[in-house]
Amino acid sequence: MELFRDRFPAGRRDTLGGLDDLYVYIDGEFLCRDEACISVWEHAFMYGDSVFEGIRAYGGKVFLLPEHLERLLESAKSIGIQVPLSIEELTRIVLETFRINALQEGHQRITVTRGVGSVGLDPRNSKHASVIAMAYPFPPTLGERAVRLVTSSVRRKGCDSVDAKVKVSNYMENILAKLQANLTGMDDALLLDRNGFVAEATATNVFVLRKGKWSTPIPVACLEGVTRHVAMEILKQMGSPVEERSLTPHELYVAQEVFLTGTGAGIVPVESVDGRRIGEGAPGEMTREVTRRFKLLTAEGTPIEMPAGKRD
Ligand SMILES: Cc1ncc(COP(=O)(O)O)c(C=O)c1O
Repeated sequence: MELFRDRFPAGRRDTLGGLDDLYVYIDGEFLCRDEACISVWEHAFMYGDSVFEGIRAYGGKVFLLPEHLERLLESAKSIGIQVPLSIEELTRIVLETFRINALQEGHQRITVTRGVGSVGLDPRNSKHASVIAMAYPFPPTLGERAVRLVTSSVRRKGCDSVDAKVKVSNYMENILAKLQANLTGMDDALLLDRNGFVAEATATNVFVLRKGKWSTPIPVACLEGVTRHVAMEILKQMGSPVEERSLTPHELYVAQEVFLTGTGAGIVPVESVDGRRIGEGAPGEMTREVTRRFKLLTAEGTPIEMPAGKRD
């Protein structure tokens, strides 16, 4: 697989400056940011018919890359998209997309689309899936401080619809919930499942410490987050195994600590839920320790082959 190393030496963004010269991978080519386009006949555009991953690089290493790519392939399989590349090829694309953009720290979105088809839902008209990867600098999505949540009236689907474990690009439930958070002046929204149990926040999983025990929702109406898995492992190592169970909003209101996990957001302490202050309102002791250990772990990733002296 030729990835145009000569045409796109790593670090060009350094010399050209700014974000204007980001390069986007589309089906075997790197294109300049503004030339990177997809067809209006693409099912991903017409129907949100695609799957994706959000992946982070820390200090020149891509965190949890195999886990993200495994989930990408599972998502695609689940909705019947044939990914034209192997996991090894996808790995190279992700690493190369960070390298070409000279990003040692940053976020990457890799998308696999159903492909160009015709108007009409039938996926048989889309013969070839496309693979698109774009990397960019990306500060933590919810900022660095404890966040205030509001419960959204939008419910997260169950596994009898599009399973929340499938990372499809259609995020309409989450976007509507985020609109409600914005309208109410809160930082983010909590989505419940159709039975009224806590599902997740708009792009993060939820952890709750109540009566000395940590819990997180069973992954039936939430994404099975890779950061969620890491947080569960950290808490286990701290001697506090996490129980996966159904959680009610009440249990969050009276919790000692609540935090959120996600690739884009990191580990995010929760200050309040629906106006009820969590603990003292400041990040709890255990949440701070989880954050500390998480930061240490982010140093262990798949190295990006970056020339010496490159940033970010
Ligand atoms: C809806 C949703 N839930 C949870 C998460 C957290 O998942 P991860 O830790 O794999 O990034 C994300 C992030 O992608 C998400 O979009």
